[in-house]
Amino acid sequence: MLARTEEQEKVYKDTLSGHYGVHHLDKRISDELSRHGQNLQTISNDVASNFDQFHILGHQGTKDLFNSVKTYLGQLSHPKVLDLGCGLGGTARTLVSEFGCEVVGIDIVEQNIRMAQELTKALKIDPNKICFSSAPATDTNLQDASFDLIILQDCAVNVENKTKLFGECKRLLKSGGILAFCDVFAGTMGGVVLPTYWANKAAISFPQKPKEIKQMLASMRFEEISWNDYTANAIEWLKSQEGVEGGFKLQMGDNYEKKMSNTLRNFTEKRTLWVNAIFRRNVEIATL
Ligand SMILES: C[S@@+](CC[C@H](N)C(=O)[O-])C[C@H]1O[C@@H](n2cnc3c(N)ncnc32)[C@H](O)[C@@H]1O
Repeated sequence: MLARTEEQEKVYKDTLSGHYGVHHLDKRISDELSRHGQNLQTISNDVASNFDQFHILGHQGTKDLFNSVKTYLGQLSHPKVLDLGCGLGGTARTLVSEFGCEVVGIDIVEQNIRMAQELTKALKIDPNKICFSSAPATDTNLQDASFDLIILQDCAVNVENKTKLFGECKRLLKSGGILAFCDVFAGTMGGVVLPTYWANKAAISFPQKPKEIKQMLASMRFEEISWNDYTANAIEWLKSQEGVEGGFKLQMGDNYEKKMSNTLRNFTEKRTLWVNAIFRRNVEIATL
């Protein structure tokens, strides 16, 4: 795959920002808070976690994903975690406040990073344990071998160059570190119908076949620990979200009904799959 020119990279970033940088996000959040009798000064974790995690299965999905990787992190009491494509930072905050991790969140959309920082301050999360910054997931500028765990939740589907994405994950993980993702993959029955929650245009939608990703990760010497197709759970959960105020709807923006019905159509017609997987970066043996 040819590298994008600077101009193409800018168009890609603008398209992602147009899709995820939901109009009037501040107002949507303050309306949601007032629906619960709260504001940014009085915001509670319970209310925030209903809308600040923009992936299938929401807050419960985050807890399930972390619980499924915990045993592979050994005895670490404060694992260093990178959340790639962190959105509003809800996953990062959950990992700090409920699981004792130290987390760095990276997202290409600057509005998301600003809101992640604002919500983190409002929720009084220890600033020594969490930080956010804006960068492409393929080129984070973070230090080599600095994370025990990398999480990708519904983000890889937006990245065209998966070799670069997983190459960056490999560079950033410590020897034996864990890569965990839940994401949208290409199904067996034709192309994706857009818009969906993850993309309004084909220019930012890159679901890939499971087999190709497995081969790619194996060629980078990632060891597969688990691979689960949870498409049926995704469909059930998406149906449960229909008509629910706040939640998934809040971050979907104006075209919510269309995005939701297309998302369900893609999964039910097997155009897309929803997969949870855990891989381990190869252990490097020091040579004398
Ligand atoms: C569906 S949202 C999920 C957000 C977050 N992971 C969560 O679960 O709440 C996908 C996120 O990935 C980010 N993203 C997409 N492509 C990216 C890229 N190439 N580099 C960094 N972030 C990216 C988007 O800006 C968006 O915030």
